Amino acid sequence: MAANFPMQPMGRFSGPSQPVKRPKEFACFSYDENHEFRLDDSSIKYYYTPRLGADLSKGFDTFRKLDDSGDEHLDSLLKTIVAHEKETGKKIDANVVTWRGMMTKIMAALFEQQDGFEMNATLYQENNDFKVQSRLNENRRGPRRGPPLEVMQYWGYKFETLSTLPKTWHETSREYIEDRENQVVSNKEQYCSVVRTGIGSTVLCLGGEVDAIWDAKPPPGQPINWVELKTSVEIRSPGDLDNFHRKLMKFWIQSFLLGVPKIVVGFRTRDGILVEVQEIETQSIPQTVNSRQGARWNADMCVNFAGEFLQWLRNVINDEGVWRIRRRAGSNGIEVFKVEETGHGNVLSEEFKNWRIKL
Ligand code: A3P
Ligand code: MG
Ligand code: MG
Repeated sequence: MAANFPMQPMGRFSGPSQPVKRPKEFACFSYDENHEFRLDDSSIKYYYTPRLGADLSKGFDTFRKLDDSGDEHLDSLLKTIVAHEKETGKKIDANVVTWRGMMTKIMAALFEQQDGFEMNATLYQENNDFKVQSRLNENRRGPRRGPPLEVMQYWGYKFETLSTLPKTWHETSREYIEDRENQVVSNKEQYCSVVRTGIGSTVLCLGGEVDAIWDAKPPPGQPINWVELKTSVEIRSPGDLDNFHRKLMKFWIQSFLLGVPKIVVGFRTRDGILVEVQEIETQSIPQTVNSRQGARWNADMCVNFAGEFLQWLRNVINDEGVWRIRRRAGSNGIEVFKVEETGHGNVLSEEFKNWRIKL
């Protein structure tokens, strides 16, 4: 008994955007330099303009790279939710709990024909909890020129190190700021924001990494000046601009979902020299893209698609067991079917279930 959510005709997702809630952070956690979980904001980074001309490949040989071959499921997110519920004495009210990255894939599906994905979901005490089952299908490119893919991936993390400080500017020495190009790059340390947000009729709890903060954290409840950092190849032709506008969709969705107001893009040469830094307001992206002829995506349609899909999903997943949400690359529908009749598989941690039984 598989259910299918059709994505065609796309016209049914056009029109004004369904209501969205402003994402509000209600909890956070960090991974420290060894990728150990910490229930605090210790790994937050502060944005500080990088130096142009820096070589993004520098230090690749000393990269402290996180081994991400294992699947961490929702464990850290659930741990943070348990701590929050212990503090408040009540359950969070979200209909769907997942990583921001999972929601990004769903929200981008309408305009990303080649992006297949699979994730598991389970129903628990009226809350759905998604998790990813398989990693993003790698783009299979033919023979390619240019630097190795691992080096290109390093550029993104190098840019983060070049553009951030581990403490506020006041607490940082001139020497550190000027020596950032020689810092060892690590992607083990992370700060993750946990927010309550909403799309259409669905209340979501999302967890996701944020790269940096512009100033400092305000008192609880107030908007936070998060910064998303991205690298992209410099724009030198209409084709480059076209590709960049396409990339803006993922940038926008990713930042929109956590309420990140600003994206700082580091433009680089083909061989990884940082040549320009541009600050982009997240909320300005849909307009920028629409104003260009032949726009390849539309933000309102992404929202409407996500809103309708989530509502549909909550009707389909109405029973215990583990469900698979699958989008095959190139297909124009999302399938949902049961893969385990009972229980919650690996989706929910023991800690979370034990806590909720008591609550
Ligand atoms: P860029 O986005 O600048 O290329 P994020 O931008 O989400 O904070 O991720 C930081 C960096 O992680 C990216 O920098 C990229 O280097 C790497 N990265 C993120 N998602 C990836 C993916 N799906 N495949 C390969 N690398 C990825
Ligand atoms: Mg990041
Ligand atoms: Mg980033």
